[in-house]
Amino acid sequence: MFGIEYPIIQAGMTRTGFSELATAAANAGILGLVSAGAMPLATFRDEIRKTKNNARGRFGVNIPLLREDAEECIKVAQEEEIDIFFTSAGNPARIEATMREHEQKLGRKLYWVHVIANVKMAKKCEELKMDAVVAEGFEAGGHNGFDEITTMCLVPQVVDAVGIPVIAAGGIADARGVLASFALGAKGVQIGTRFAASVESHLHENYKRAIVDAGDTATMLLKRRYNPTRMLLNAYGRKVKELEDRCASKEEIRALCPSGDPMGLAAELGDIENGAVEVGQICGLVKKIQSVAEIVDEITKEYERIKSLLP
Ligand SMILES: Cc1cc2nc3c(=O)[nH]c(=O)nc-3n(C[C@H](O)[C@H](O)[C@H](O)COP(=O)(O)O)c2cc1C
Repeated sequence: MFGIEYPIIQAGMTRTGFSELATAAANAGILGLVSAGAMPLATFRDEIRKTKNNARGRFGVNIPLLREDAEECIKVAQEEEIDIFFTSAGNPARIEATMREHEQKLGRKLYWVHVIANVKMAKKCEELKMDAVVAEGFEAGGHNGFDEITTMCLVPQVVDAVGIPVIAAGGIADARGVLASFALGAKGVQIGTRFAASVESHLHENYKRAIVDAGDTATMLLKRRYNPTRMLLNAYGRKVKELEDRCASKEEIRALCPSGDPMGLAAELGDIENGAVEVGQICGLVKKIQSVAEIVDEITKEYERIKSLLP
């Protein structure tokens, strides 16, 4: 799929997936994604153009549909003739017409993939004739679905329910995770947390260090009632948890970060105690900051060795 060498996707990640990361991924033989995330539209266009100029391999875009101007983001990517779209966090049906119109104009195959967290959404994506779904489990970093289904349980149920390819995400950081995903029936994997800690990720150095220093119990799914997000249980995370334990309102939780942008505080300013460090449970396995090329090389080499050890 997508004309890539290895069936690995560098996950779309807010404040992380700029051109440098997507280019490094594309040049390492996996799929790179420029992530619209919180980027202003002009920045998004620039990052796509930079990637076009520098990437030797395939790349696409990730657009979370919860962005108020998601349709503007899609328009930018369409004007830049992007042919691989990963969408998430919203109802894909509302953009079906614009995607199909784009495909017609492109005059070549358009790949459209949506991130889902349950079987019902996967079936909807199949009805919309999407090319694949990313089945993202509860262990994943960043925004989660409300269903709290783990990757181990979600992937095989989605594989059994739909005929389109399933890409596994959530808790995959090395060759063992890749092999396990294939055993569950996935045709590819999407890796977030490990690439978030890569040299080419746009995150502040303190954020990357925090991932490397984190252990297995370091994260928690917070904001469960209105915007489930997996993040580190740092000073900010602990305060959110404390308020949630008291059934505080969404407004009280929002007031914890006066700028209204807790992830920006951590990702851009490096305040990894008072900001939201969005990261997955697999952070405990990420031991160093490496280049994307090194990570891909390690995973692909280890893959054969681990496979040969299977009973
Ligand atoms: C820092 C960070 C930011 C993320 N931002 C986005 C995003 O903008 N859009 C999206 O679809 N998913 C986002 N995700 C989820 C990833 O795309 C991916 O599915 C997830 O990280 C996979 O799980 P893992 O972290 O265990 O590898 C983000 C994840 C992280 C860690």
